[in-house]
Amino acid sequence: MYAERVLSGMRPTGRLHLGHYHGVLANWVKLQHEYPCLFFVADWHALTTAYDEPGTIAQNTWDMVVDWLAAGVDPSQATLFIQSRIPEHAELHLLMSMMTPLGWLERVPTYKDQQEKMTHKDLTTYGFLGYPLLQAADILIYRADRVPVGEDQVPHIEFTREIARRFNHLYGREPGFEDKARESVKKLGSKRAKRYEELRTRYQERGEQAALDQAHVLLNETQNLSLGDKERLFGYLEGGGKMILVEPDALLTEASRMPGLDGQKMSKSYGNAITLREDEESIRKKIRTMQTDPQRVRRTDPGDPEKCPVWQFHLIYSGDDVKSWVQQGCKSAGIGCLECKQPIIDAVLKEQEPMRERARMYEEDPQLVRNIIADGCEKARKLTQETMRDVREAIGVDYS
Ligand code: TRP
Ligand code: SF4
Repeated sequence: MYAERVLSGMRPTGRLHLGHYHGVLANWVKLQHEYPCLFFVADWHALTTAYDEPGTIAQNTWDMVVDWLAAGVDPSQATLFIQSRIPEHAELHLLMSMMTPLGWLERVPTYKDQQEKMTHKDLTTYGFLGYPLLQAADILIYRADRVPVGEDQVPHIEFTREIARRFNHLYGREPGFEDKARESVKKLGSKRAKRYEELRTRYQERGEQAALDQAHVLLNETQNLSLGDKERLFGYLEGGGKMILVEPDALLTEASRMPGLDGQKMSKSYGNAITLREDEESIRKKIRTMQTDPQRVRRTDPGDPEKCPVWQFHLIYSGDDVKSWVQQGCKSAGIGCLECKQPIIDAVLKEQEPMRERARMYEEDPQLVRNIIADGCEKARKLTQETMRDVREAIGVDYS
């Protein structure tokens, strides 16, 4: 069976933290064993908002790739690359821009939301409006079937599907497709033609998958039908002509439950994060000084784990036995907060041990990282060139 292709991108924001690990990277590491995966640094997307701080992007990219590798993303399983090294993304973006109604872009909810949030920056730019279209190009150029993203990105995947549909509708048809298809139907013979039309209607008007399947069987069984007629009849069943671009599905990533050291969402800008390659002593210190239940002033005061950010960490890192030890010990003042934090310190350090190990290798020899990316770019580029050949031909700008 055809293996579904997975693709996802991340903007280069620099060093990643535990929130990225539990929210995104752990999922990538799992997916790379299940599907052919493509993961890339969306550096052009970073430029849509950071166009006035160009000095930060390259370093952030390399730091982020090392974090991916440290987290266990495996370049022998997944293809890792940088968006801007694959100019075909830009070509597809440009070609699709010709058929993208402005209103579709203006209606994408992130457009207004982000503009309102980032008031310190002028985001009334052409590039920022086109953000979702660039993302659509990233996805469609690999004919990716599944795109792991968080909930905030779902409208972008929906938008991508609409663009693919519009593209296939405009360019997937040969001239006079409808007429030719009707001619091909006649060649089935009157009985089969009637059956075909009936199944086609049931599928198109009522979305009956079974009708589509039966129609496929009918076509496959029909003898002495030319290949051209057959292909056309397959295409006609689903409404269009050829399917040049594939509509992807979002693979919804569960929101990370990883809280920051203060119980708010973990984020670099809140200063409440533990990064993926953090020095052991710094991790110990951060956790030891973490806020606890404010009601628990003295060691003898009982506390309530529900009101304590440390408990949120136990939910992620501890097994049932430790969790009930915390519940009991906290509520009865049987354990101290430092004692309660020790299993967390141990678990975070243990989780990071292999990461630190892998990162060390790449930090000592940055050329390794460059080679991994060069390999990934080469593989990715081959895939994009195949798609672009079909796209240029369909639009009529292939000159071959
Ligand atoms: N917009 C995505 C984000 O902010 C990043 C991204 C760019 C992406 N292109 C993509 C994600 C293609 C998935 C597929 O997280
Ligand atoms: Fe929080 Fe643990 Fe202290 Fe209770 S004992 S307040 S859960 S750190």
